[in-house]
Amino acid sequence: FPSVNDYLRHHIRTVPDWPAPGVQFRDITPLLQNPKVFRVLIDAFVHRYMDRRPDVVAGLDARGFILGAVVAYELNVGFVPIRKKGKLPFTTVEETYELEYGSATVELHTDAVRAGDRVLLIDDLIATGGTMMAGKKLLEKLGAVVIEGAAIVDLPELGGSARLRASGLPLFTLVDYA
Ligand code: PRP
Ligand code: HPA
Repeated sequence: FPSVNDYLRHHIRTVPDWPAPGVQFRDITPLLQNPKVFRVLIDAFVHRYMDRRPDVVAGLDARGFILGAVVAYELNVGFVPIRKKGKLPFTTVEETYELEYGSATVELHTDAVRAGDRVLLIDDLIATGGTMMAGKKLLEKLGAVVIEGAAIVDLPELGGSARLRASGLPLFTLVDYA
């Protein structure tokens, strides 16, 4: 493969008409299943942040947990989960955002980060950007600074990555689908 990005793209599976007719679902599970590909994937993130290490990695429910936890472990920093509402047991901050139909709420433990912490925010994919934007707001409510948002896949046609960048969040993504 001419690049790491092309190698990773080759291992993303596109499932037509899931979860609804007309949707081309970009399925990242094959990247995790193949141990060699999984290592290339994680190393791409680790190489980007090893010389500018965050204080904390925050992962978005649910696929951001898989990536975020491994990247945090490799960077030798802690991991904190941003969860869908109703799952975290301690006191939380919460943020609600709009979906195509209805809304979603995510939560973060109030002691997950401290004011001034530099946080790397990770998910598998950016579509409308609503999930990552909500995660950024939660971290900022606690006074943390999100140094970058990182994801495997960007769907730039949905405008999410542009909106996130316009809000002042730098982004790092590995594969995009126009
Ligand atoms: C997907 C994906 C991102 C989010 C991206 O998660 O893993 O978290 O949607 O969409 P957005 O940019 O439009 O917000 P999903 O809500 O399907 O949850 P899951 O990981 O629990 O399956
Ligand atoms: N893949 C994974 N998650 C998603 C997608 C997709 O294509 N679109 C919105 N969330």
